[in-house]
Parts: sequence; structure tokens; C-alpha cells
Amino acid sequence: MFAIAPAGGSLAFRLMPVPVPVRDAAQRTDWREGVMMLSKDETRDLYRRRAKRYDLLTQLYRLSGFNIDRYRQNTISALGLCPGDQVVELGCGTGLNFEYVQRIIGPEGSIVAVDLTDAMLDVARGRVAREHWTNVEIVQADLAEWQFPVGVSAVYSTLAITLVPEYDEIIKRASRALRPGGSLAVLDMKEPERWPTWLVNLAVWLYRPFGVSLDLAHRHPWESIGRYLRQTSYEEYYFGAIYVCAGRKEA
Ligand SMILES: C[S@@+](CC[C@H](N)C(=O)[O-])C[C@H]1O[C@@H](n2cnc3c(N)ncnc32)[C@H](O)[C@@H]1O
Repeated sequence: MFAIAPAGGSLAFRLMPVPVPVRDAAQRTDWREGVMMLSKDETRDLYRRRAKRYDLLTQLYRLSGFNIDRYRQNTISALGLCPGDQVVELGCGTGLNFEYVQRIIGPEGSIVAVDLTDAMLDVARGRVAREHWTNVEIVQADLAEWQFPVGVSAVYSTLAITLVPEYDEIIKRASRALRPGGSLAVLDMKEPERWPTWLVNLAVWLYRPFGVSLDLAHRHPWESIGRYLRQTSYEEYYFGAIYVCAGRKEA
């Protein structure tokens, strides 16, 4: 139930799922049993183990045709940033998004980057030092407890907010922290309702090393964006497995 398609300009090919009739998430039981959501401590431990090889691993996943860099750039584009903007990244990990933001905001702008895992932030700090960026503040905190600065230009998160049980409250607080006209964007995985069950199970298995499980399927950050902001864009990729959603605070 899938076709082979060229992966945008590279030599790689990717398997493109062909849409099949929608199934109920409750039917997807195969991998659910015994797969529990991770606690915060378990999440931190998992990312401590991944930190040193995280950037390499994400490149390896690209070989499967998952062109994550393109979706990162789409997320940053959706924010509509300007030079000098003050930006917050939620769950920044090793800082793979910083360069896309820096290209737009420039040295007069700033990034506050927050993450739970010290080891991921150590890699992010190394990146910041290598690039001689002096406008990045790195903060180790659980997003559920972190206090946003007031009046920021934009907030974004890639592949992280769905891992946080309090995501709705966090998006609500992020929306309040935005200046009028400020924007928020999220890139994340979601349950691809049109994929056949076996392919969903395969994808969950592939991404388990990052704490992904089907138990996360009921978390819908894009709905929170629609609840607290005026939703400005929503795009799905891979037949609904990845999305980028953005919203804007009224000016
Ligand atoms: C898959 S990584 C994504 C990292 C980065 N955003 C990226 O796109 O490469 C998920 C990140 O979310 C962070 N994270 C998970 N739960 C968190 C929480 N409660 N508060 C802050 N960060 C959290 C993890 O430490 C990890 O660095």
C-alpha cells in the first residue's frame, strides 16, 4: 500500500504511503500494549543518552526520505520573523533550528532556547560557541514550569511540544507572552489517520528511540493554537504524519 517516489532533488527515494480508508486510533492496538508514555525523568534520561549522536541520528533518518530540514525552515518561515525580533524556542534540543532563525533576526535579535535535558543543551551551547552567536540564551527547564518573558515576537517548537503532557497550558501561556501581532508555530508528528495500521506501527517503532509512542496520539497542539490564537496556517506532510501549524496574536 505504498509507492516509491523520488525525494526532492537527492538520490534517495522514499516510500510514500498511498491513502487507505480512515481507521479508528483505538484499532491500532498492536504496539500499544506495554508502550507507556515516558515520565519527565525518563524523557530526560532518554535524551541524555541520545544527545551526543542526536544530530547524526537526524541525518540518518533523512536517508529514509524524511527531509526534516525542509519542515524546520517551513516552521521558521511561518513565524514571519523580522530582523531584531525576540524569539523563544520550546524544547530546543541541540539547537538545530538556530541557524534558520539567526539568518532572519540577525545579531540585533535574540533567541531564548529552553529544554529539559542538560546533555542536549550542552550540544546546543557548543553550537552557539562555534558560531560565535552572542544573542542566544540557553535555559534548562521543564516547559511546564518555565515562566515566559513578556512581549516576545515569536515562539516556536519543533518535534518537542507533543512530548510534554502540559502542552495546552504551555501554548496558552506562550500566547499570552507574545506581543500583539506576535506569532507561534509548531512542527510535530501526529497520528496519520490515513495510513494503514502496519505502517503507523512501523513509524512508531522507528521513532521510539525519541520517546514517540501511540499514546501521544491524543495530544493535539494544533488545536491549542486554534484555541488561543488566530490560526494563520496549517500544513500536513506525508499524508498527515507531520504538520506545521502557525497562529498569530491579534495586533
Ligand atoms: C525530539 S527532541 C527535538 C529537539 C529539537 N527541537 C529538534 O527539532 O531537533 C525533543 C526535545 O524535547 C525536550 N523536552 C521533552 N520534554 C520536555 C519538557 N517537559 N520541557 C522542556 N523540554 C522538553 C527533550 O529534552 C528533547 O531535547
